[in-house]
Parts: sequence; C-alpha cells; structure tokens
Amino acid sequence: MDVLPRIESGPVTLSIAINIILAASLIAVLWKLKNYREDRKKRGVLRPWPVRQVDIDGFDERFRPTEFGPPPQTEIRFVAGFRVDGGINDFETWILCTLAKSARRIFEFGTCTGKTTYLLAANAPADARITTLTLAPDQKDSYRLGGGDDREATAAALAESAYTSFYYSGHAEAERIEQLFGDSKAFDETPHLAQYDLIFIDGSHARSYVESDTAKALRMVKPGGVIMWHDYHGPRRARGVFDALNELTRQLDLVHIKGTSIVAYRHPVPEPS
Ligand SMILES: C[S@@+](CC[C@H](N)C(=O)[O-])C[C@H]1O[C@@H](n2cnc3c(N)ncnc32)[C@H](O)[C@@H]1O
Repeated sequence: MDVLPRIESGPVTLSIAINIILAASLIAVLWKLKNYREDRKKRGVLRPWPVRQVDIDGFDERFRPTEFGPPPQTEIRFVAGFRVDGGINDFETWILCTLAKSARRIFEFGTCTGKTTYLLAANAPADARITTLTLAPDQKDSYRLGGGDDREATAAALAESAYTSFYYSGHAEAERIEQLFGDSKAFDETPHLAQYDLIFIDGSHARSYVESDTAKALRMVKPGGVIMWHDYHGPRRARGVFDALNELTRQLDLVHIKGTSIVAYRHPVPEPS
C-alpha cells in the first residue's frame, strides 16, 4: 500500500520541479535581458538616431536606379578599394563625386591626405574650383578647445593634422585645388558667402568645431547647394558630430543617407516673389 503512492507521485513531483526550474530560468533570462536593454539605453546605444534616414535617391533624384542598376549619370572617376587616414569609403566617395560632377565651387573642411579633394577635383567640371581648408602640423597651437569638447575627437583632429603635401600634389587636378591652412574657427567666411554648390564638412569632430564649421558653411552655401557632413556614426563614435547634427535637425531638414555616415542638407532656393 505504501509503495503505490510513491511510484505515482515520483514522476509528478519531478515534472513540477522541472517546470519550476524552467520558469525560474526563463524569468532570470528575461530579467537579464531587461537589465541589458536598460543599460544600453542609458549608454545611448538604443537611442533612436534623430536625423531621419533616406536612400540616396530619396535625397537626389540623379541617383534613382534604372532597371539595370545605377544610372549612367553617376559614373565617376574613382580610386577604389583603399581607405586612407581619416578618409571616406567607396560608397560615400561615389555619392560626393557624383554631386561634384555638377558643382563649380566646392569647399572642404578638413583635407587630411587630400584623397577626397583629388577625387572631387577629378570629377568636377573642367572649370570648377575646389577649396580645402586644413590645420597644418605647425599650427596645432591655434586649435581652440570648446567647453565640453570630447578629448578623443580633439586628439584625433590634432593627430590627423600631419600633412603639408597631399594625394593630389603633382597631379593635373592640383591646378584647380586651392589649399588653405589654418584653424577653421579662425577662418573668415565673409569673402565666401553664398558661393558654393557643394560643401563637405569633415574637419575636427569635436562638437564646438562641428558647430562652428556648420555655421560658416550655412553662410557659404548657394541656394540649391548641398552641405554634407561625414562621420554621423551614432552616440559611441564621433559623438560631437552626432550631438551637433541631432540638435541642428530640429531646425533644418537634414537627412542621414542610408548605408553611409553622411548627413546631407540642401539649402532651399527662395520662392520667386
Ligand atoms: C577626418 S580628416 C579629413 C578627411 C578628408 N576630408 C578625407 O575625406 O580624406 C580631418 C581633417 O581635419 C583637419 N582638422 C582638424 N582640426 C582642424 C581645425 N581646427 N581646423 C582645420 N582643420 C582641422 C585635420 O588636419 C584633418 O586633415
């Protein structure tokens, strides 16, 4: 008589115990997941990126694909497959150089090796002029740190200020490139007002510099012209670019080009009165 209940209750007890263990494990996993997500949210990893994303053809219809792929007007001169110090990738190069094909005045904040400068000049019309501004190695003392600027961005900006001759040096394209040296906060934009079809902002990524370069670019761009910023990567890389553009997108219609770290803005053409 004593044996029967023990034989019957054994498997039931075991199954209850297994279910309790499974439920407890599931609760523990869900709890860990919740803490993990909260921690990532706190560090900004899951924060939505405020600049709205579009495909490149949503920003500029010249990129609208044909039934066979990229449209012929986006064919460019190219040096593919290698990245240089501070440089942009092949997809970003294709975008900038396609826009350069119809730009007569181009300005670049931050030359670095000058590879992008060269490619902009190589693709721009024959009568185009490309002006590029960078900090020379012997001008590092003029760098002006802003309150709250991220030290990592500042260190990178100074480390990349290492060039006095460039990728384009010695090429025919150099004749159409004007190289300026100096700190971009000290750059006087007043002789350059409303002149540029394309401006590429890729100098110091410290927030105060992104803001200063942006304020100047907004005065330098022509109606209908385009400003592009590089290195909009999110909260954990080039934070100064991320924060400055997230703030700016409250006032201006900025777009983040999908598959790139480029943010773009087209300066409106005023309505005819
Ligand atoms: C990211 S690299 C530019 C890369 C380049 N646009 C390209 O696509 O190959 C940043 C450049 O900005 C320059 N730079 C950094 N701080 C600057 C400052 N305060 N004023 C002017 N140029 C600065 C650096 O010397 C460096 O050449």
